[in-house]
Amino acid sequence: MTTHHSPLTSNTSHLLVTGGAGFIGANFVNYWLNNYPDDRVVVLDALTYAGNLASLEPAKNNPNFHFVHGDICNQELAERLLRDESIDTIVHFAAESHVDRSIHGPDTFIQTNIVGTHSLLKAAKSVWLDSHSSLLRPQSSVLKPYRFHHVSTDEVYGSLGPEDPPFTEHTPYAPNSPYSASKAASDHLVRAYHHTHDLNITTSNCSNNYGPYQFPEKLIPLFIINILEGKPLPVYGDGLNIRDWLYVEDHCKGIDLILQKGRPGEVYNIGGNCEKTNLEMVETLCKNMDERKPSSSLTSYSSLLTFVKDRPGHDRRYAIDSSKIKKELGFEPYESFETGIRKTIDWYLQNESWWRAVMDGSYREWLDRQYGQKHN
Ligand code: NAD
Ligand code: DAU
Repeated sequence: MTTHHSPLTSNTSHLLVTGGAGFIGANFVNYWLNNYPDDRVVVLDALTYAGNLASLEPAKNNPNFHFVHGDICNQELAERLLRDESIDTIVHFAAESHVDRSIHGPDTFIQTNIVGTHSLLKAAKSVWLDSHSSLLRPQSSVLKPYRFHHVSTDEVYGSLGPEDPPFTEHTPYAPNSPYSASKAASDHLVRAYHHTHDLNITTSNCSNNYGPYQFPEKLIPLFIINILEGKPLPVYGDGLNIRDWLYVEDHCKGIDLILQKGRPGEVYNIGGNCEKTNLEMVETLCKNMDERKPSSSLTSYSSLLTFVKDRPGHDRRYAIDSSKIKKELGFEPYESFETGIRKTIDWYLQNESWWRAVMDGSYREWLDRQYGQKHN
């Protein structure tokens, strides 16, 4: 990374990536160390059920990578890391991310997504703006070397009708699930810390990601694995809900552009320009798997499709207008839907040990070794 340098140490960046053991966070860490090998990347992750150290295997032996097991709600820990590691950039992924879980158990969503984000904001303000470190950098409102990038979701905008135009950065917030309401609250806190304290902040609101290392509770990995195991494919409601899909590495590239060229205080929508109904998605997955790994007993995996009770409050349609990030920062998704899905299926076919360890629980062994059986 060439345009965003640490003010304290050298001309490389020192990133704190929260939630770096999760799906997008791990892809981001692996992407970053590949593309900016001289930068330092510190991951802060609580290793909830969604965190998986195996997803950081490519980074494990890199001397510029450091993993810290901890909670973003621990402000003191965050402050210590910002100081000790001379962090100049926070990329904040850590969250409870699954809508279905937020319906049945919303408390952790409030705690991590709202309280945790606020705790990190307070840590950044304290270390970057209030404390001695401000003496080490020029006191100029033009030079803003520190950056807090907040990773958020298109779900904060609510649900679209079939004829509505896609979400822009000016679409009013209308979150419908406890998950999206907690993300919306975090977006507002982030915005307020920029407005009130002049903290150098950017936010991205992105559409549905897919790709390697996604926890198999989400539609695409769940259905790929169910196909491989000959299990039913539970489609909620009539299957006509629409999502906009983006390959995860393209999301990482969008965040990279925002870190390098994004304007302080700005919000950028990131999407794949790829609206699909859930039924179209399931058919694509089945067709690809029929070609790649035909079933010995079924004519097509599509016979596994089963309609089940709808998700309560299920948003009908998301669609993203990405023209701002395209025009201002030159963002363009690299993967098409066809190439992205193919790569994703290939990855799950080639990395059976990764998802088998998730399914049988052995991906938690590191925690068991560290803390015995008492951990969360
Ligand atoms: P994920 O659930 O796969 O990973 C979340 C990570 O955060 C896990 O490693 C978990 O251990 C960690 N974490 C949870 N609570 C924590 C806490 N209190 N302290 C420290 N770490 C904690 O999530 P994801 O799908 O990778 O999403 C990452 C971010 O991107 C989230 O903020 C989400 O809202 C946002 N987002 C996701 C998508 C998507 O399609 N997955 C789309 C747009 C935005
Ligand atoms: O839009 C961005 C959001 O995308 C992110 O903010 C969330 O963190 C991420 O989880 C995702 O939310 P969704 O609810 O859209 O993703 P999920 O994979 O859970 O569901 C995708 C669609 O598929 C949705 O319409 C519900 C449907 N679905 C999902 C599952 C798990 C099914 O029909 N059956 C299922 O078993």
